[in-house]
Amino acid sequence: MSENINHDLKVDHTRDERARQHFVSGMRSYVLNDLAGNLRTLYGNKVEPAFERSQGRKPADGPEVHKAMKGETLFKYYSSLRCNTQEMVWRSVLPAVERESDDLAARATKLHQSNSGARGTLTMDGSVQVPRYLEALDVHLMPGSYHEQHRDADVSQGAVYDNGLSVFAMGLLGPNMDDITQSVSTFFAARYPNFKPKKILDMGCTIGHSTLAWKDRYPDAEVHGIDVAAPCVRYGHARAQSYGVEAHFHQKDAEFTSFPDESFDVIYSCMFLHEVPGKNIRNILKEAKRMLKPGGVMLHYELPPNKLMSAYDGFYLDWDAFYNKEPFYKGFRDMDPADECATAGFKNDQFFNFVVPSMSFYGKDAVLKEVSQAKAEGDSNVGRFADGVRWFTFGAWKN
Ligand SMILES: C[S@@+](CC[C@H](N)C(=O)[O-])C[C@H]1O[C@@H](n2cnc3c(N)ncnc32)[C@H](O)[C@@H]1O
Repeated sequence: MSENINHDLKVDHTRDERARQHFVSGMRSYVLNDLAGNLRTLYGNKVEPAFERSQGRKPADGPEVHKAMKGETLFKYYSSLRCNTQEMVWRSVLPAVERESDDLAARATKLHQSNSGARGTLTMDGSVQVPRYLEALDVHLMPGSYHEQHRDADVSQGAVYDNGLSVFAMGLLGPNMDDITQSVSTFFAARYPNFKPKKILDMGCTIGHSTLAWKDRYPDAEVHGIDVAAPCVRYGHARAQSYGVEAHFHQKDAEFTSFPDESFDVIYSCMFLHEVPGKNIRNILKEAKRMLKPGGVMLHYELPPNKLMSAYDGFYLDWDAFYNKEPFYKGFRDMDPADECATAGFKNDQFFNFVVPSMSFYGKDAVLKEVSQAKAEGDSNVGRFADGVRWFTFGAWKN
């Protein structure tokens, strides 16, 4: 399943491990496509009409749908299969990462020091504290989360994420597992053809899938990625070096970056904010405003806000907050991105949002066709990790 990992930090999985990975990926596809469809049918045919008969109205929001669905056998079956396959994703890749952990650290160190390919840099800062909201749990059931380290120069958690994502993604993230940012940045570059950023920052970059996608879009720009998790930052830099892509990775907290004022043209994040508590999100948006040059833009790929979605889709997307160790997910989706940008100091009329079809699923023409859309419209494919997914993004210009 890790066939799409083609850089120098690739690990060797045994035939049995690969077979397990294919099984888990197929099982996830069954749960997230087939069973999810059955769940929606059950809601439409039985649960919603029963609610309407007893209450004289339809469920108003996700929590009401959740309450009505909770006792249904199909929902319990869906949830337990989904939890189990999520745990199996990580278990299917851990043995190979553990076997090669020392060698991975050695290979990464060599790539950091290599001058033969790209000239990207790695800046580690041991004084950066992993925030309590990350440290206290195995985020999305990933053992060791993003930050745990067991040896010098450890990159294992980066490898767990890279290999795990390739199983988790079921092919939906494209060959380099960067479909989200390839789609979003292609849309963005087509919508604003005269905007030529010189310096781009990717916050919460993990191992740089999105960071490198920006370099594809704007090859002349200086691209930086920051993350608090040391093993991921190291892995991200080594991976970029291995691909020969110049990108600069830093161990930094997005709330307090110490980058100078007005130093970036684009400040981006991908799948980052929904893992962060509300008060920290507010600090991060303020920090982004501070770091942006006048005329620069902040944008975040994220799960769509509940206010954009139907009660059922709100319930469906918030599942992870209750069953997948992502406790801040629902709180984030209950926020209004426009209000949060305004609170961070962006002008109301500079806010925008859009929805982009997945480029690897629908093709580039489908992405370009949407460039003139006025604003994001919610539908059941938006943010739903399954065939036909469409990606939601919001942001604001600084002027
Ligand atoms: C879901 S991952 C992001 C995935 C990545 N952006 C991508 O496109 O593949 C969330 C990341 O945010 C990082 N993170 C969480 N809080 C942070 C903070 N305050 N500052 C920097 N990174 C943070 C975590 O360590 C983790 O690597």
